[in-house]
Amino acid sequence: PKDSPLRGLNILITAGPTREAIDPVRYLSNHSSGKMGYALAAQAQRLGANVTLVSGPTQLAAPEGVNLVAVESAQEMLDAVEAHVADAAIFIACAAVADYRLAAVATDKIKKNADTMQLELVKNPDILATIANRPQPPMCVGFAAETQDVAHYAADKLKRKKLALIAANDVSDSSIGFNSDENAMTLFWHNAKGELEQKALDRAPKLTIAEAILRQAGELYGERNH
Ligand code: C5P
Repeated sequence: PKDSPLRGLNILITAGPTREAIDPVRYLSNHSSGKMGYALAAQAQRLGANVTLVSGPTQLAAPEGVNLVAVESAQEMLDAVEAHVADAAIFIACAAVADYRLAAVATDKIKKNADTMQLELVKNPDILATIANRPQPPMCVGFAAETQDVAHYAADKLKRKKLALIAANDVSDSSIGFNSDENAMTLFWHNAKGELEQKALDRAPKLTIAEAILRQAGELYGERNH
């Protein structure tokens, strides 16, 4: 589309889960399918952006024309994002990053001798917060999964994480989100007067939701860089 506010912009997107190794054959992860992040990448590309997609392990093929950077762990995802963020206008953090990783990865396969065992975990870096706190950050877009008080927590996260836009979904509805092809979200951002604004995106295919998120991001980007 010629009227696209994203034409020619470099957009960096994270997607999918991360895998945190326990030993050479085991890992900790989560149920993220990567579908929302891949939908964002495909739509951003269609809207004329140059897209780099940093993705954890998924079953999905890279959308055509998108520069896919495959990673496994949260630390690898952060490294890849930092390697590509310098020329990004917009950063969209859609990945379901594991909050914790193993304090130490076993070099050999752990034997199942003991009846109980404990794994020591340490906190992973917050990729979105790390990028938003750079000296000259790209415009940052985040996601929030909440089960209650969605607006309250989303507004708080906007401010705390220095985001331009946040897309919040109510994860108490298990028929959408994660492995689903559909989603429903509410977008939150601050207008030029600093007032909180919101827009509900009714249940729709993830590609449709992705386009709405990207159009809102493009509008905000235009306001900030006119
Ligand atoms: O704080 P919370 O995990 O709810 O924030 C979710 C947002 O932060 C998502 O956009 C997610 O991609 C991003 N995030 C991240 N790195 C983490 C945790 C979350 O980029 N370690």
